[in-house]
Amino acid sequence: MKLDVTTYMNQFLGQSLVNQYSNRKEEVFQLLDQSYMNGWLDPDLSYLEDIYKVRDEVIGHSKCLVVVGIGGSFLGAKAFYEMFTPYFKKDHFPIIFAGTTLSSSYMKELLDYLKGVDFSVHVISKSGTTRETSLTYQAIKEVLEEKYSKEELVKHIIITTDPVKGALREEVNREGYYSFSIPDNIGGRYSLLTAAHLFVLSFCLDIEEVIQGYFSGLKLRKEAFSYAVCRRVMFDEGKVVENFISYENNWYYYLEWLKQLFGESEGKEGKGILPISMIHTRDLHSLGQFIQEGNKIVFETFFKIHNMPSCVVDGKNLHEVNLIVEESVIDAHVQGGVPCIVVELDDFSPRSLGELSSFYFLVACFSGFLFDINPFDQPGVEVYKKEVQSRLD
Ligand code: PA5
Repeated sequence: MKLDVTTYMNQFLGQSLVNQYSNRKEEVFQLLDQSYMNGWLDPDLSYLEDIYKVRDEVIGHSKCLVVVGIGGSFLGAKAFYEMFTPYFKKDHFPIIFAGTTLSSSYMKELLDYLKGVDFSVHVISKSGTTRETSLTYQAIKEVLEEKYSKEELVKHIIITTDPVKGALREEVNREGYYSFSIPDNIGGRYSLLTAAHLFVLSFCLDIEEVIQGYFSGLKLRKEAFSYAVCRRVMFDEGKVVENFISYENNWYYYLEWLKQLFGESEGKEGKGILPISMIHTRDLHSLGQFIQEGNKIVFETFFKIHNMPSCVVDGKNLHEVNLIVEESVIDAHVQGGVPCIVVELDDFSPRSLGELSSFYFLVACFSGFLFDINPFDQPGVEVYKKEVQSRLD
């Protein structure tokens, strides 16, 4: 992975601000190292063998896996699943992601569909109290209970939750379901290297590759700090929106994952950069106009992948065309007063994306610390949850 925070950025960065924030490097590193919520820096992976064992059992008796979770308990797995399963030739073990909507038409269709197939469910909720997750799980469990005997049922329910507390952990202890843990010192959106995501991904890709990449990304502290400084200066310069851009359609959920990581980590106390995303070239024909000539509140981060499968169209390598378009857009946006960061990947593999993901965990933390906020909580999310609770419970 290569980060360029200078070529298309320097002309927009005030040097005194860069110096001011760069001087906080040691303080920011210490804040991360001393935080209780830094378990993702050195995650326990002793459960990997169990992941493979349970996965093989599920493949043996089920035709699909339904994953129920929302926010940080959903997006990591969904992002990697979308990136590393084929667009059209769906010959992998089917995974359905549910629990992110309370739409009754969606739920009705899902339940009707599940009545006709052998399936297992993986419920992911660290707190065990998230309403979308618990309602969806309850509905799906009723389908399972109608289908299977009590002895069979235990083989079809897998729960990933807090290691000791919460309603789901109590259920595991009571019913003897398969279970994994999200450690107390790893927050939902930092839980990529826990069973919450790795169990799901073990069905469709080589999770050891993700793990290797993840650990190499953690070594990029210096680069992550430069990125965080750049973001912090951008904010002071009035660039309060970061637009994450990919030229690959199957990055849609990865960009959603990034938005959730930054949105929940940084958006508090009236501070933070609003993360948005675009897929090019599609969105050049919609929001592209605004970026080029509209209100100058945006800076951008472009993902550039060097090696992609070859496809020749009209005598030209299509990926080369895609890269030329990307470079042209960067130049055009810089001319339009939009600062750009470029993140380059050699290839598009679970390893590269594992590396990119832990790198972004570092960026999100360092950015949060430079805003003097806690990047590990999300008190604002609780506000709507309490409003719902007061009306429904
Ligand atoms: O990143 C986070 O911490 C949140 O997005 C949570 O993952 C999300 O709210 C779901 O919470 P839980 O896993 O407790 O159901």
